[in-house]
Amino acid sequence: MLTDKRLIAVCECIKPCSVFADVGCDHGKVSEYVAENKLAHVVLACDVSAKCLQKAKARLSRFDNVEFHVADGLKGIRRVDTAVICGMGAKTIMGIISALSYKPYLILGAQKNVEELRFFLARNGYRAEKDFVVEEDGVFYDVICACEGECEIDEIIAHEGFFYKQKDELRKKRLQTEIAKYSALYPSEKNKKLLEIAKEAYKWQS
Ligand SMILES: C[S@@+](CC[C@H](N)C(=O)[O-])C[C@H]1O[C@@H](n2cnc3c(N)ncnc32)[C@H](O)[C@@H]1O
Repeated sequence: MLTDKRLIAVCECIKPCSVFADVGCDHGKVSEYVAENKLAHVVLACDVSAKCLQKAKARLSRFDNVEFHVADGLKGIRRVDTAVICGMGAKTIMGIISALSYKPYLILGAQKNVEELRFFLARNGYRAEKDFVVEEDGVFYDVICACEGECEIDEIIAHEGFFYKQKDELRKKRLQTEIAKYSALYPSEKNKKLLEIAKEAYKWQS
């Protein structure tokens, strides 16, 4: 059973589909959730590292609808309806999405540079359906669900989320943390800009 708050949040975004891919599956917990809850006809557990994929194989051997692929992203893999791509940097995630010739439903969890990922989605024909914050062990994570479509983007959206104007207790808590952090840092141009962005977004939460 899943216990990690971040992965629970990711898994709760997965809708029933035909072909599901867990890209960078590593431990295989997301694939296990999908197989166990019969959310897909076929589950593709994929990882660029054969060693990491071995962990997924050990966890998922009891399911007969799970396939294992050593692959860079989804290169060489058949078309999927939904792809979870989590636990990597935004640059890696953007590279994986860029290599696709179609637009699956995406559930994304970038560990860093998430603002670049939001710019990328908005400029490459995606619309955010969800974009929310999860807190686990004092660390805030962003989870973004996106499908084919269009959406607006600017610096505040890129840094604070597509739905930063919606009231949300966790988002508010993260903004308070960011404001305290950037206020304490050396006021370089970059830090001043990030502080302004956080303060502007915070207005919607207070
Ligand atoms: C930190 S783990 C994240 C595991 C899981 N997705 C999660 O969020 O808990 C990152 C995994 O992504 C894999 N990975 C990194 N780059 C990749 C790529 N280009 N294609 C597929 N897998 C990749 C790594 O081998 C590793 O197993």
